Amino acid sequence: MAIATMTTALPISFFPFLLLIPAICFTICHANSNLLCIQNEREALLKFKNHLIDPSNRLSSWVEGGDCCKWIGVVCHNLTGHVHQLHLAAPLSPYEQSALGGKINPSLLELNHLRTLDLSNNNFSSIHIPKFFGLLESLTYLNLSRAQFQGAIPHNLGNLSKLQYLDLRGNDLKSESLQWVSGLSSLQYLDLSYANLSKATDWLQVTFKHPSLLELHLSACILEDDPYLISVNSSKSLAVLDLSWNSLSSVPKSIFSLHGLVSIDLRFNSLDGPIPDYFGNISFLEVLDLHQNSLSSSIPNSLYSLNHLRFLHLSSNKIGQDISEILQSLSRCCLGSLESLNMADNQLSGHLTYQLGQFKNLSYLSLAQNNISGPIPSSIGELSSLKYFDVSENQLNGTFPLCFGQLESLETLDFVYNLLEGVVIETHFSKLTRLTTLKASHNRLSFEPNSSWIPPFQCQIIELGHWHLGSKFPLWLKFQKELSSLDISHVGISDVMPTWFLNLPTQFEYLNLSYNQLNGGISYLNVTNSIDLSSNRFTGPLPRVLSTLRYLFLSNNSFSGSLSELICNPSLKEMVALYIDINLLTGEIPDCWNHWENLSYLNLGNNNLTGKIPPTLGYTNPCMLNLRNNSMFGELPST
Ligand SMILES: *[C@@H]1O[C@H](CO)[C@@H](O)[C@H](O)[C@H]1NC(C)=O
Ligand SMILES: *[C@@H]1O[C@H](CO)[C@@H](O)[C@H](O)[C@H]1NC(C)=O
Ligand SMILES: *[C@@H]1O[C@H](CO)[C@@H](O)[C@H](O)[C@H]1NC(C)=O
Ligand SMILES: *[C@@H]1O[C@H](CO)[C@@H](O)[C@H](O)[C@H]1NC(C)=O
Ligand SMILES: *[C@@H]1O[C@H](CO)[C@@H](O)[C@H](O)[C@H]1NC(C)=O
Ligand SMILES: *[C@@H]1O[C@H](CO)[C@@H](O)[C@H](O)[C@H]1NC(C)=O
Ligand SMILES: *[C@@H]1O[C@H](CO)[C@@H](O)[C@H](O)[C@H]1NC(C)=O
Ligand SMILES: *[C@@H]1O[C@H](CO)[C@@H](O)[C@H](O)[C@H]1NC(C)=O
Ligand SMILES: *[C@@H]1O[C@H](CO)[C@@H](O)[C@H](O)[C@H]1NC(C)=O
Ligand SMILES: *[C@@H]1O[C@H](CO)[C@@H](O)[C@H](O)[C@H]1NC(C)=O
Ligand SMILES: *[C@@H]1O[C@H](CO)[C@@H](O)[C@H](O)[C@H]1NC(C)=O
Ligand SMILES: *[C@@H]1O[C@H](CO)[C@@H](O)[C@H](O)[C@H]1NC(C)=O
Repeated sequence: MAIATMTTALPISFFPFLLLIPAICFTICHANSNLLCIQNEREALLKFKNHLIDPSNRLSSWVEGGDCCKWIGVVCHNLTGHVHQLHLAAPLSPYEQSALGGKINPSLLELNHLRTLDLSNNNFSSIHIPKFFGLLESLTYLNLSRAQFQGAIPHNLGNLSKLQYLDLRGNDLKSESLQWVSGLSSLQYLDLSYANLSKATDWLQVTFKHPSLLELHLSACILEDDPYLISVNSSKSLAVLDLSWNSLSSVPKSIFSLHGLVSIDLRFNSLDGPIPDYFGNISFLEVLDLHQNSLSSSIPNSLYSLNHLRFLHLSSNKIGQDISEILQSLSRCCLGSLESLNMADNQLSGHLTYQLGQFKNLSYLSLAQNNISGPIPSSIGELSSLKYFDVSENQLNGTFPLCFGQLESLETLDFVYNLLEGVVIETHFSKLTRLTTLKASHNRLSFEPNSSWIPPFQCQIIELGHWHLGSKFPLWLKFQKELSSLDISHVGISDVMPTWFLNLPTQFEYLNLSYNQLNGGISYLNVTNSIDLSSNRFTGPLPRVLSTLRYLFLSNNSFSGSLSELICNPSLKEMVALYIDINLLTGEIPDCWNHWENLSYLNLGNNNLTGKIPPTLGYTNPCMLNLRNNSMFGELPST
């Protein structure tokens, strides 16, 4: 049988591909078209179908008298005709209601040769995992992930001595002991993520000493620190360990005797104190993820003995160290191997050093939200694999190095909130053809490209707030056909908003043009979520906006005319904040606020509004309401 032979033959480093094997096998086995299935197996499948709820009629090919080996999701052995695999995972499409539900009939036990059973992504919301699954003794692969099963995991599953893959991820399950797992003597892959294992205090003893287990996922299982602290005779086989999203306050000591580990994921726990020295004992470690804990102090030297390290994520901790020290040490162990380094949101200080340019395989680097100062070394231009570079919210100064223009792989460039200064020219972007995100606001840079400049990139996000972009509206934005978020606030533009900009074929979600000297009128703005035009010199009537808009800031302009068209537009139901203070609005506040249910902030102060406060305004229930400095009179309505 393909699944069994192929999986045991593959080396550990091929793990991610193991998951594809059912799909491969499906195509191989489906080629046998001249076989008729075995009659009692066909009957069993029909009985199984009859107890299922199949709202989209996925199993329509499962009919009386048919060749069950040709039915959708059924795979038979090519010589014997026995049903070997049932692939009934629901396709993950939000538009298609194709999840199977109902009851799982024990007729499945007639399928004596069933090796693979995949019921993932279905919706068996009202039932437990059937105990009789423990009698499907030929099973090597059982996938019930995200299928809405409830209740205790039946210990009977522990009878499946041939089972290699057990995936129960993302159900509403619990287990008070994992002793049953030790019965699964062929098990290689176990995923019980999201099961409540708070009572299963034996989880570590059972899983760490399992002799064949290669990959273990116990994410979000409400695990706490191992109360026993006894050493177990640990497995040599375990390569992938995922204990993320639990409540561990220290790294279980026994982890360090799992000498075969390649990947450790302890994200989102409560680990505190220094990073344990012992990670250095796990000599094959390639992936270490300790993101979002409370680890302090500095990276222990022993970690740098791991010369296979590919992926090191220590973000959102309290590591206080000089970044130059870290780069130097990493350059000694992991110069060729390091692909991803994330140390964002710590307390790093010091300067970036030239070594940064030597990590030839680095594709992801985030050092955001630290206190790193000094210049960005120009060796960075040598990082030919770099896709993601984020040094936002630091104290970097000096110029924006020209060599950035060489980073052909770069997709995201983020250095907002630093102290870079000087002139940016077209060459800074010359080879950035893959760039989709450029976030650089809050630096002291200026950029006035030639008016014929066509950017080599198509960005979705551009943030250049507080740059100096010159007095003309940046013409090069005309070529950004994918733009959905643009911040060019506070950049010194003193121009009319060009018509081509209003007519860009792009759907903006977010547009911030505030604090410029833009003038003229605007008839409409096609932005889906948030618009900020405050502190400009716009004139004329208020612009028309889309019904999905949630934030509209038009303060401190010279918009005039009446509020009626905007306020009385019944499709504007999503608005959360509306600021039109310090303008030249006249007339009465219209009495049609009934549909403004989500409004939390309303500022109409400093206009020339007259009349009474309309009663329906009381239905909006904002937490901030400012009508100051107008010419209104009368009593406050009782609403
Ligand atoms: C049947 O499948 C096996 C592998 O499972 C393969 O080696 C063999 O060639 C196949 N036979 C036919 C007739 O397709
Ligand atoms: C189980 O099924 C889910 C969804 O179909 C899939 O993402 C997952 O990789 C499968 N698990 C295994 C171990 O193959
Ligand atoms: C699953 O089915 C139950 C009962 O039919 C239903 O209430 C629930 O919303 C469904 N869940 C999903 C995720 O479709
Ligand atoms: C299967 O497992 C259950 C519970 O662990 C046990 O009571 C039962 O004897 C086992 N059945 C077989 C046939 O091994
Ligand atoms: C987990 O199970 C324990 C005991 O079985 C229970 O007290 C607790 O409320 C459960 N936690 C969650 C989040 O369901
Ligand atoms: C570990 O294995 C050794 C030898 O195989 C044995 O003597 C020892 O009792 C075992 N320890 C534990 C805690 O199982
Ligand atoms: C780590 O390795 C050192 C040296 O081989 C050894 O003395 C120590 O006991 C090991 N620590 C753990 C927790 O396994
Ligand atoms: C660099 O990355 C590539 C692809 O990700 C990998 O095949 C290669 O082994 C890595 N180089 C080193 C020295 O680890
Ligand atoms: C950041 O580093 C500077 C020295 O470069 C230091 O004066 C300042 O206190 C540090 N700030 C924080 C928040 O650590
Ligand atoms: C960068 O800031 C440091 C102080 O943190 C200062 O000594 C240095 O002159 C600055 N460099 C530039 C190029 O402004
Ligand atoms: C902007 O929206 C208006 C009204 O929804 C629509 O008529 C117009 O075609 C849109 N313009 C663009 C460029 O999408
Ligand atoms: C405000 O309205 C009053 C009365 O309608 C008018 O006399 C005055 O000129 C207006 N002021 C402005 C700044 O529009």
